[in-house]
Amino acid sequence: MLTARKTIVFNMLLFVFFLISIKIAQAVSNREQVMNKLVINAWENQKTAIISRNIYGHFSEHLGRCIYDGYWIGENSSIPNTRGIRNDIVNALKRSKIPVLRWPGGCFADEYHWKDGIGPRKNRPVMINTHWGGVTENNHFGTHEFLDLCEQLGCEPYICGNVGSGTVREMQEWVEYITFDGKSPMANLRRENGRDKPWKLKYFGVGNENWGCGGNMTPDYYADLYRQFQTYVRNFSGNTIYKIAGGAGGDNFTWTEVLMREAGSRMSGLSVHYYILPTENWGHKGSATEFDEKEWFSIMKQALYTDVIIARHSAIMDRYDPENRVGLIVDEWGTWYDVESDTNPGFLYQQNSLRDALAAGTMLNIFNHYCGRIKMANIAQTVNVLQAMILTEGEKMLLTPTYHIFEMYSVHHDAQLLSEDLQCTDYMFEETKLPSINCTASRDSSGTIHVSLCNIDPHDAKELNCELRGHKATKISGRILTAEKMNEHNTFDRPDRVKPNTFSDFDVTKTGFTTTLPPMSVVVLEIN
Ligand code: AHR
Repeated sequence: MLTARKTIVFNMLLFVFFLISIKIAQAVSNREQVMNKLVINAWENQKTAIISRNIYGHFSEHLGRCIYDGYWIGENSSIPNTRGIRNDIVNALKRSKIPVLRWPGGCFADEYHWKDGIGPRKNRPVMINTHWGGVTENNHFGTHEFLDLCEQLGCEPYICGNVGSGTVREMQEWVEYITFDGKSPMANLRRENGRDKPWKLKYFGVGNENWGCGGNMTPDYYADLYRQFQTYVRNFSGNTIYKIAGGAGGDNFTWTEVLMREAGSRMSGLSVHYYILPTENWGHKGSATEFDEKEWFSIMKQALYTDVIIARHSAIMDRYDPENRVGLIVDEWGTWYDVESDTNPGFLYQQNSLRDALAAGTMLNIFNHYCGRIKMANIAQTVNVLQAMILTEGEKMLLTPTYHIFEMYSVHHDAQLLSEDLQCTDYMFEETKLPSINCTASRDSSGTIHVSLCNIDPHDAKELNCELRGHKATKISGRILTAEKMNEHNTFDRPDRVKPNTFSDFDVTKTGFTTTLPPMSVVVLEIN
């Protein structure tokens, strides 16, 4: 009897033990499921591509207060300047290591006649900036001023020529004016205007959005014009031009197909533009700062969709250019919202919040992944327009959350992309889900590894377990950009609400490191 009871008790204990084991196993397995895993291939002998620093390029147009009342305040301004260009803006952009600057447009480029912007300023003719607010343009910021700005910034100039309303001769003479060293009509004119030595000019765009504001052309028609115009964009005096054909907007893959087919052999780069807005309605795009989670999610979804846009344009280019000679140049990209109230609707002045930082971090991570094909990208637009780095009000200036991302990510400039595999939990909103984490891993020329990580989930922190293959981490340091609220932003009264801070929530492990990414944060780790 006793033995029978003992057996029952024993069996019951066994059963309880069995149940507990199952629970433990489930807990472990659940934990494994929610644990985010990143494997970085950090072997030294990898043949992966270099992330061109030009992926961190900028675009500045004669639009609103980007040039005038932005960079350009004139020599007589009380705001400290060097030959009319604002010193505080130059210094901030130098700190973020701006590599290349595209100018003068945009839509403005195909209405711009460069000869109106040279010579004594008081003699320069005025024009109407029809695209952007119908304001009078006095041409005080022209070729010399732009190239002076690039010299002050220490960055490469990228000039976009006029196909839509310009002539072949006008385009040819512009390049001659800037780059010809000997005696020639244009080089002599340049000397009369005070510049003896030519400038170096590598990047030249042959038109902008020629399917739209640049002339409303069909791809075949533009391809022919591209072939014609580019013929006269000459390499003078040892200067070699990298010719960039005007490319598609977003998902216009036909444009890329036709351009590659008809003119691919005559270009160094082909552009593409990709803007993202919260509502898919250009009439009511949504506010830059007053938004709910639906609009946060919408921007994150479209930022991640960059991958599809780039993959499909790249696949077309791969077919026509298997040697990978032609670069994909994302020369306009960024967020686009309704303008701030009480500002000129044609000036495209918008605030910039933590949401823009996450969008920029995510899109830059995607561009980095495609660095085998993407040779340049230019965010629109540097000062006071669209997803700006810098906002100004009189003598005041603030750095936006997007600026801080460009500065934090500058560690990837010209670094070797490291391949990686990331498995992460989803960020769910209503019925739709997105991967909650995205990243880039790179190794710079000194051997230091950097990992940029975005957690786009506004609610949940993410534990991440990272395995570094082929590299033993000895020391890690980190920086983070985050805030309490999705729409946190910097104002002229409180310019430092969103700024990078030191990040130390990580542990070195035997195989790599673990870290916890706070909700809606961008973290950059430096691993030695
Ligand atoms: O960046 C603003 C405008 O957007 C540019 O001028 C044009 O190229 C694009 O449509």
